Amino acid sequence: MPKINLQNKPIAITGASSGIGAATAIECARAGMPVVLGARRVEKLNDVAERIRAGGGRAEVVECDVVIEEDNAALINRAIESFGSIYAVFANAGVGLEKPLADTTDSELRELFEVDFFATMHTIRAALPHMIEAQSGHVLVCSSCLARFPLPYNGAYSAAKAAQHHIGRALNVELSPHGIFVSTVHPIGTKTEFFETATRRSGVEGVAMPEHTPEWCMQDASVVARAVVKCLRKPRPEVWTSFFVRYGMGISGFMPRIADRAVSRMVREYQAAKRSANDHS
Ligand SMILES: NC(=O)c1ccc[n+]([C@@H]2O[C@H](COP(=O)([O-])OP(=O)(O)OC[C@H]3O[C@@H](n4cnc5c(N)ncnc54)[C@H](OP(=O)(O)O)[C@@H]3O)[C@@H](O)[C@H]2O)c1
Repeated sequence: MPKINLQNKPIAITGASSGIGAATAIECARAGMPVVLGARRVEKLNDVAERIRAGGGRAEVVECDVVIEEDNAALINRAIESFGSIYAVFANAGVGLEKPLADTTDSELRELFEVDFFATMHTIRAALPHMIEAQSGHVLVCSSCLARFPLPYNGAYSAAKAAQHHIGRALNVELSPHGIFVSTVHPIGTKTEFFETATRRSGVEGVAMPEHTPEWCMQDASVVARAVVKCLRKPRPEVWTSFFVRYGMGISGFMPRIADRAVSRMVREYQAAKRSANDHS
């Protein structure tokens, strides 16, 4: 299949006010795509839009809480009003929760799944009728490497990311007769505001998870952004940014006992560091 020319193919991106979403918006604009940026923090969206416009790209900003179904429709409608159509959508907005599962309440679980799972469905549903009508399009969902390997103390988050992965894979087959590609994106640890926000939301104090994540498991948001644009040009069902993690997690699927042993060591060190940080605060 020849590479898709992305010039003038509009994309809407949720969670575009920071991290992976902002970096992807900038990279898509570089590839010639008009971009609609959605998130709740409008000033931050405006900063990203200004950067895109300064580079000669086109960008629109929509204040959007992805949990509210109508906000997702407004995001997609803005692409159609301003750029004439919607070619792609990146359901990227997401939050973390770092907490022992035994202490996680139903309301915390529901709140997490509202953003990380149901909102993904809202975003996709808002775009699909237009893509089906055009018989072309590309839906990308920002899942995680944790879709394939549940990280202890992040079990609820891992479950939400696995759920996103499953709907993405199923949709790819369901929508292929309409000429629509669906790809799930599986970043490893990425240096963004994510961990700070997750720590705040979870009510945990002390050291941040990235400080206790091996360097080979961490990357810049620009790595994910470039991988997403590569996938837009040459669609594939899954986007992984680390060969090692992808295959390591695949193997762990049929060696769960060994996988649990390996991860428990890393988690023990992290928990000990957190306890010691709390004791000294
Ligand atoms: N960082 C990592 O290590 C990592 C690894 C794997 C996967 N991921 C996934 O990557 C995606 C992006 O995260 P990130 O790392 O770039 O973190 P980030 O910098 O914290 O970005 C999260 C984005 O989601 C938006 N968001 C959160 N709740 C929202 C809501 N209710 N409505 C609209 N937007 C909302 C935030 O915007 P506002 O606050 O302005 O609304 C922000 O733009 C997430 O789905 C995350 O699960 C991250």
